[in-house]
Amino acid sequence: MHRSAGSRDDSPYAILSVAARYARTYLEQLGERAVAPDPRAVRALQELDTALPEAGTPAAETLAVLDRAVSPATMAMAGPRFFGFVIGGALPAALAANWLAGAWDQNAALFESTPGVSRLEEIAARWLLELFELPRTSAVGFVTGATVANFTALAAARHAVLARVGWNVEADGLFGAPPITVITGAEAHPTLLKSLGMLGLGRSRVQRVAVDGQGRMRVDQLPAMRGPTILCLQAGNINTGAFDPFEPLIERARAAGAWVHVDGAFGLWAKVAPQLRPLAQGLEAADSWATDGHKWLNVPYDSGFAFSRDAEALRAAMAVTAEYLPTASAHRNPCDYTPELSRRARGVEVWAALRSLGRSGLAALFERNCRQARRFAEGLRAAGFEVLNEVVLNQVLVSFGEATRTRAVIEALQREGTCWAGSTVWQGRSAMRISISSWATTDEDVERSLEAMVRVGRT
Ligand SMILES: Cc1ncc(COP(=O)(O)O)c(C=O)c1O
Repeated sequence: MHRSAGSRDDSPYAILSVAARYARTYLEQLGERAVAPDPRAVRALQELDTALPEAGTPAAETLAVLDRAVSPATMAMAGPRFFGFVIGGALPAALAANWLAGAWDQNAALFESTPGVSRLEEIAARWLLELFELPRTSAVGFVTGATVANFTALAAARHAVLARVGWNVEADGLFGAPPITVITGAEAHPTLLKSLGMLGLGRSRVQRVAVDGQGRMRVDQLPAMRGPTILCLQAGNINTGAFDPFEPLIERARAAGAWVHVDGAFGLWAKVAPQLRPLAQGLEAADSWATDGHKWLNVPYDSGFAFSRDAEALRAAMAVTAEYLPTASAHRNPCDYTPELSRRARGVEVWAALRSLGRSGLAALFERNCRQARRFAEGLRAAGFEVLNEVVLNQVLVSFGEATRTRAVIEALQREGTCWAGSTVWQGRSAMRISISSWATTDEDVERSLEAMVRVGRT
């Protein structure tokens, strides 16, 4: 019999309503509390560090401890005035879908055992390819974030460039394999290098190409490419938001038969917004791409996507076969495209986010965040502070003077609590990084944060 929702208070699942109440209160108050965690609450966390309990505790009591002790010790990352790293919030529809998917507790490995979420993943994959203007026959892997998306896509690259010279890397590994030349920009994200290291391609043997003042790869510095080669480009530099000049670089790589990969952890989303699309012009001619869902799409952690034009290369790198796993299927098995076999159904909240915003809602979100970035830059410049980057996307770098002065202002601002932004060193200069990536940030939040930055920057 089908029971109506929330019908019995003695149900073991009554705790879910309690969690929803705590979560809602937390999120509704997030815009008014200090963005940084309460230092007293952080100190008090040590109370939780008890011996492993011998006896169990009722779920309600366990949840009450989380709400009382841990909620105030969190950074308000989901709130409207968190501008650190590149961190989106969670769209209400995406968060709610994530909860429902949690209740479903599906192991999203195989189509036959979990057709509902597998179909959602397929649909979301198709929508993403359409939004990014990528070849519709590309393979898509739903992974934990851009680090693993880069790893996954580069595994496809490694497979393809070695297969072309007759080497099966999955079967025979890299010992004795023909060498692969790997080229990245000098300002490639450190996690891209980590991914290359995990693939046995080495973090240090990579050829780093000089970049310009915004971190864009210099076409005139691109080395000659011969033999198996992977060229890694970037859409959206973590500091400046800048994009590599894709068209001339990809043209050179194509002529040399190299595989081109694009790390677009947040920059790939520029493809979706008419005002931003010119920045990403030409990246669709690459062979593979990586991006995040948990950054600008504003789905809950953790979520990222790997795309490979050569679908077979990604399958060759990632598919599992074993007697007990019925992997041969007329359908798309999610696990054929990701490093994991068992994993959560992260396509559910991706589908919900895309469906709830639609193409125009997505474009409006990205364009609004970029307009807000320009407003930060304009306001800070007007107050006499130096903005170090061309604000082309959602990233702003501001200096408050000497390195020690800039660092002191950032720390004071973080303590003051109106907003939160982190620090960086951009081409030798200390700066505060402001990254606007949340659906929840309003223009009023920007003005309030700007006022705090200027006030703290002047004291
Ligand atoms: C360009 C770029 N690549 C990769 C990453 C790593 O992403 P994630 O932390 O989601 O793995 C980031 C994170 O900011 C990034 O900006």
